[in-house]
Amino acid sequence: MVLSDSADGDITASGSAASDSADGDITATSEWAALARHARELQAGGVDLAGLFEADPGRAGRCTSTAGELVVDWSRHLVTDATVELLLALAERAGVAARIEAMLAGEPVNVTDGRAALHTALRAPAGEAVVTGGVDVAPAVAAERERMGAFVRALVAGERRGAGGLPIRTVVNIGIGGSQLGPAMAHEALAAFRSCDLECRFVSNIDPAALAAGLDGLDAAETLFIVVSKGFATAETLANARAARAWAASVLGLEAAGRHFVAVTASREAAVEFGIEPDDVFATWDWVGGRFSMGSAAGLAVMAAIGEENFAAMLAGMRSIDEHVAGGPAASVPMLLGLLSVWYRNFWGFQTRAVVPYSERLRLFGVWLQQVIMESNGKRVRLDGSPVGCETAEIVWGGPGADSQHSFHQLLHQGTTAVPADFIVLARPDADVAGPPGVAERHEALVANCFAQAAALAFGTPPAEEDDPHRELPGNRPSTVILAPELTPSVLGQLVALYEHQTVVQGAVWGVNSFDQFGVELGKTLADAITADLRAGTDPAGSDAADADHDPSTKSLLAHYRRLRKL
Ligand code: F6P
Repeated sequence: MVLSDSADGDITASGSAASDSADGDITATSEWAALARHARELQAGGVDLAGLFEADPGRAGRCTSTAGELVVDWSRHLVTDATVELLLALAERAGVAARIEAMLAGEPVNVTDGRAALHTALRAPAGEAVVTGGVDVAPAVAAERERMGAFVRALVAGERRGAGGLPIRTVVNIGIGGSQLGPAMAHEALAAFRSCDLECRFVSNIDPAALAAGLDGLDAAETLFIVVSKGFATAETLANARAARAWAASVLGLEAAGRHFVAVTASREAAVEFGIEPDDVFATWDWVGGRFSMGSAAGLAVMAAIGEENFAAMLAGMRSIDEHVAGGPAASVPMLLGLLSVWYRNFWGFQTRAVVPYSERLRLFGVWLQQVIMESNGKRVRLDGSPVGCETAEIVWGGPGADSQHSFHQLLHQGTTAVPADFIVLARPDADVAGPPGVAERHEALVANCFAQAAALAFGTPPAEEDDPHRELPGNRPSTVILAPELTPSVLGQLVALYEHQTVVQGAVWGVNSFDQFGVELGKTLADAITADLRAGTDPAGSDAADADHDPSTKSLLAHYRRLRKL
């Protein structure tokens, strides 16, 4: 057995024998103990993927599932039928299906914020009631979608013009985290479906270089800014929005510049106070988590680029997976994939997951997924505040295949750290590039590379070639291959929802709140204090006193900073 990272699955939370009085601690249950035992047996016996396939000629077929249009091959995982049964028993014991049902029913599953997590309401079909806190939110969702549509139609038709009367040519989305990652990813992924000449750009970083690049070559008179911020209090977004407004005002004048800004937020008053016209504020709601908000007005720039119909198709794709899950959470593909990640994280000790889309246009998918999984489940306490007794979210990383093969796949194949990999690949090339001669062949080569990587990871070098340890690939490394027909809006929506639901499954097993993110707050507070001191530092006499509250390393860095800035 080559996979040797330390596993934490062979002890319970307290190190004591597992009991049936779990008291909400999944690691203290008999189901957890049974999985830990099973993992030890498989590891001791040297579970071997090649052997599993040899013993079961039907494995590839049996271990390939479909969800919507997605074909999910999970046959190359280090699991037997018994593993899957034990994982499902664990999910049952953890109440995963019940938690998913509670989420879909609009219950306040985000207990620390006292809110629902109802992103699925954003993709519910027209007319379907979605109630949370006694209120049917469906009419508000539908009304906002209609407003988005009307806005986009006016923009594209040249009816919504700049203050000077020129049509808008470029939309700049200013937002960060969930207010940028999903929309930027979808905008890139759906390049083949852009339905107008509007150019969309995304600016997130407070690094001045980001806004400079975002504004490069633009004419303020033909530019519209969409400021996306659920809370409308995010430092990076507000700083960039102010700078963008100053840039526009320097050309158009302050009042006219205001006509070039719209907002998407759950904090309407803050946006209006910022100076956005009330009619130009699009709503999102506190029951939509930022990282789950792609289907809300946070996707306004995406809708502007691909049009209402394609946006609706993306939502329909998400909905198809929501229905797949709602139809039987326990038997769903996201349940299985979420449980596989628990299997590796907790019973094999694997720390990371590589996400490798064999699609140039999905190159931001892993970046989007990092926030979804790591901000959702990078937690150390359970819903009741007690410590989790096991590892939680894996580190998500990756990059587009085939580029990744020439970068980090060496480690995947021969490194000492095992990394389960998700490969995503499309049967057909992107429609807008499919015409020229040679495209089909290059796309075939792309697909072949994807399939080859999964095979090489699983089965390694053939025995006959194993005489040189430097050249030997041990194999036995797990991966999932997700194959979809083509990168359409619907397929993208399906992929997004597939991973969103997996994330909820993971969090439910570990008993953490997947919908808050308090871990990011301290850094924001510290940054505010340090910013104030950096500014005070322009007065060398005042700077030492201002630095008094900082830890020694920060003080030292401030001193070096001032020296380098020659303050
Ligand atoms: O700092 C983390 C975070 O709160 C994310 O959860 C969120 O997606 C991002 O900041 C942006 O927040 P907002 O949309 O409120 O500006």
